[in-house]
Amino acid sequence: MTQHGSYARTALVVVAHHRIDSLTGHTARLAAARLEAAGYRIDLLDLHAEGFDPRMNVSDQPDWGNREKAYSDEVHAHMRRILDADVVVAVFPVYWQSVPAILKGWIDRVWNYGFAYGRSKPRLAGKRMLWLGLAGATADDPVVEGMRSVLETNLSEGIAYYCGFSRSTVGLLTDAEERPQRLDAEGNLLVGEVVTGAEREAQYADLDRRARAFVERFVAEEAVAA
Ligand SMILES: Cc1cc2nc3c(=O)[nH]c(=O)nc-3n(C[C@H](O)[C@H](O)[C@H](O)COP(=O)(O)O)c2cc1C
Repeated sequence: MTQHGSYARTALVVVAHHRIDSLTGHTARLAAARLEAAGYRIDLLDLHAEGFDPRMNVSDQPDWGNREKAYSDEVHAHMRRILDADVVVAVFPVYWQSVPAILKGWIDRVWNYGFAYGRSKPRLAGKRMLWLGLAGATADDPVVEGMRSVLETNLSEGIAYYCGFSRSTVGLLTDAEERPQRLDAEGNLLVGEVVTGAEREAQYADLDRRARAFVERFVAEEAVAA
């Protein structure tokens, strides 16, 4: 908060997980707390808790001949929340090297033609985006490098920059599973022992530390850009 008691900036924190007690939910709360400490007003959008329907429908499908199309009231309410935000932070588990269906559906329906793209002056121009993805793969798994690259291409280039965001970055949080897992050369999934006790605590603490670092860096870049 500023010294006048009002927030200078708003962060829309979007959570895509079906369990409130998930590691993803925990990480989203951690990110929100860091952003709030940095002076942001937080608008927490828990897509599952709010009952967001990710399915495309006729009202919200773009009409390429009409960029002024009036989309559904639900979608307009979500558009308003994005417009009111200076930064958007999405926190999600990585599913198939991508975002979960509910987050993809939010983008499909809400980041729509005439609003998010398709205008000479994009309405989302200048906003900044952080994608925090939790991945089950361990950091030393060779799959991670490709995953990071595909997420960056898809989310930053394919979505955020396409919609005029001035900055987008993916924070990939590996080792999010309690059982380390990886595919061997033959394609078998090797699932390790459950990590417990002090080792588990250390794993959580390290994930928190890496999540905090991504948020701190994002906030610091904002300060430089402002
Ligand atoms: C449908 C599905 C697909 C997944 N795909 C990937 C993947 O492509 N790469 C990966 O590292 N982990 C993958 N995982 C593991 C999740 O990323 C991991 O379970 C999650 O981040 C743990 O966080 P949570 O406890 O908050 O759910 C997948 C999990 C599910 C259920």
